[in-house]
Amino acid sequence: MSSSEEKRDVRNPILFECAWEVANKVGGIYTVIKTKVPVTVSEFGDRYCLIGPLSYKTAPMEVEAEDPKDEHLAGTLDSMRAQGVKALYGRWLIEGNPHVLLFDTGSAYSRLDEWKADLWNLAGIPSPPNDHETNETIVFGYLVAWFLGDYISRQQTTAVIAHFHEWQAGLAIPLCRKRHIDVTTVFTTHATLLGRYLCAGSVDFYNNLQYFDVDHEAGKRGIYHRYCIERSATHCADVFTTVSHITAYESEHLLKRKPDGVLPNGLNVVKFQAIHEFQNLHATSKAKINEFIRGHFYGQYDFDLDNTLYLFTAGRYEYRNKGVDMFIEALARLNYQLQKAGSNITVVAFIIMPATTHSYTIEALKGQAVTKQLRDTVTEIQNRIGARLFDHAARFHGEEKFTPSPDDLLSEEDQVLLKRRIFALKRNSLPPVVTHNMADDANDPILNQIRRVKLFNHSHDRVKIIFHPDFLNSNNPILGLDYEEFVRGCHLGVFPSYYEPWGYTPAECTVMGIPSITTNLSGFGCFMQDLIERPEEEGCYIIDRRMQSVEDSVNQLGNFMFQFTQRTRRQRINQRNRVERLSPLLDWKNLGIEYSKARQLALRRAYPDAFFGQEREEVYENGFGEADFFGGGIERMKPGSMPASPRLRGIATPGDLGTLTEDMQGLNTSDYRGQNWHEHDEEDSYPFPL
Ligand code: UDP
Ligand code: G6P
Ligand code: GLC
Repeated sequence: MSSSEEKRDVRNPILFECAWEVANKVGGIYTVIKTKVPVTVSEFGDRYCLIGPLSYKTAPMEVEAEDPKDEHLAGTLDSMRAQGVKALYGRWLIEGNPHVLLFDTGSAYSRLDEWKADLWNLAGIPSPPNDHETNETIVFGYLVAWFLGDYISRQQTTAVIAHFHEWQAGLAIPLCRKRHIDVTTVFTTHATLLGRYLCAGSVDFYNNLQYFDVDHEAGKRGIYHRYCIERSATHCADVFTTVSHITAYESEHLLKRKPDGVLPNGLNVVKFQAIHEFQNLHATSKAKINEFIRGHFYGQYDFDLDNTLYLFTAGRYEYRNKGVDMFIEALARLNYQLQKAGSNITVVAFIIMPATTHSYTIEALKGQAVTKQLRDTVTEIQNRIGARLFDHAARFHGEEKFTPSPDDLLSEEDQVLLKRRIFALKRNSLPPVVTHNMADDANDPILNQIRRVKLFNHSHDRVKIIFHPDFLNSNNPILGLDYEEFVRGCHLGVFPSYYEPWGYTPAECTVMGIPSITTNLSGFGCFMQDLIERPEEEGCYIIDRRMQSVEDSVNQLGNFMFQFTQRTRRQRINQRNRVERLSPLLDWKNLGIEYSKARQLALRRAYPDAFFGQEREEVYENGFGEADFFGGGIERMKPGSMPASPRLRGIATPGDLGTLTEDMQGLNTSDYRGQNWHEHDEEDSYPFPL
């Protein structure tokens, strides 16, 4: 270690956090980064800067440009700009308002070939010519390493931590290592490439993890070069972490390094002053969904919205990994069960998953248009009736009885107008199962599964399906709600994932007080199972997709949903209250400490001498003490009318939620929580078709 390195001050380090989803929404990693900002800013203040790719489509909405106040950073950016690199520095306009630095990869593509050759010489990592995602990864990785190297050469007094998420942002790690850039690195993986690919196919993944020939499998799927990048980031990082125990186990076998610890994903939980506030939000959001439903089912709107339940699943379109196959199959069984039971309940199941489309279908737009026209006409007529009624009443002097006849109030013209609107509601087709024109309708796996189980929104179907192949947005002409608003208006989230390192969607349901179904193959499901004694009593249903057959899992899911339809409104309201009370378990204010520990471990590994003789408690004195863990949360919110607190397994302290300890040199496999992941170790050899 050089003398300049020895001098770096480790007490107030600078933190760069780098991810492809910084100010660039794709899926859950965006949620991790964005929701974690407030706690990170409260720890690092201006010493914190996020680094991501510059998307000219979204950045203008997300980032306010600013000149860097850090002279070293300004110097580095000037120097890079002088060499043709375009970058945007400023404030990310989200809660916490952090510094953000976005690199325009396009501005550096002229160097791609040079960098590819360097990558091959340096690390033996090949890169095929036409893999756009890998090209982006390479350019971005080299830009970040360039930035860090230059910055470190200017700023020589303070320790710098560089935290990277996922392989697309991880290439800078081996580059920093090879170039001996004096930063300490943390790599957090949110999945493994191979895991995602293998699960999307039809292998019995979890029982055979330890047998996969990783290089061969990666090669077979054309992702060997990506896998190499992921693996080198994993191995070159000072500290390697992931988001759940199940993914820790997977990483150990597929990436061949035991994670140093698990950093569970949190959310930025906003507590309402009074519990009824979030219940009211449910009611107002549900009213908006009701409105959409009236339009979508026009002409066949023959069910009672007061007895209608909204179920939904959402996420990136990964048909098998996200368990959409299982969801639709279980819905078909639920339909049958409800019909058999003569139930008056209608279930509307939404599937919100972006696919390639050519905009909305005419039919979907028409439904909203004709119901809007009807509503407008009714409002006009209502006003005219009101005016006539007022006129009648104003003329009344008590001579005879006040009995204005309907004919006086509803004019013939109004009746004709109303009839025209009602006739416009006639339709000969069934309400569509999909709201958009799909680019590949005939081969779409979700549509094909819907066709297979014949859930076509017939009048006699008690379960209706609406597939919305795009993320939600309040500006959409149909279903114009933000995702959060939509979730609040629903009754139950259903996420029967097969491959899900964490799974934000059920976690988000929980903090919004909406019950959800998930599985013991999702990081979130395992996390809740570990912490709560009887999660299903708290509105957190967990399907066993590990120890039972697919058939049994489908039945379990179907039964959960059927039981849910049997609940009274009062029971649903109580259940929402119980669910909402779990939110402190998912709050970054409690979980953020695991990130602090990871950073601390990285500093200790890079600068062991600087810590010699220091008290290890030092970094933890930031308000996350055990006694404070449920501060403002479960224990404090217990006035008489509240439901009982959830029964947690043992005492939950921040240390119980994650696993990272400073002494750890990698988790022991026996440390993985929840399941005995090794019980199938001795079974036949790989590969195992399902
Ligand atoms: N999401 C969204 N709009 C939608 C549907 C989903 O913003 O219409 C978000 C959701 O809030 C969640 C993320 O997409 O934060 C999905 O994350 P998750 O961890 O569940 O899955 P991933 O896509 O990362 O595998
Ligand atoms: C919230 C509202 C209630 C409403 C209820 C509907 O609790 O505060 O006023 O009756 O939602 O619940 P449901 O489960 O039937 O949508
Ligand atoms: C990944 C995983 C998802 C996780 C998210 C955030 O995209 O697929 O399960 O919730 O990252 O960690």
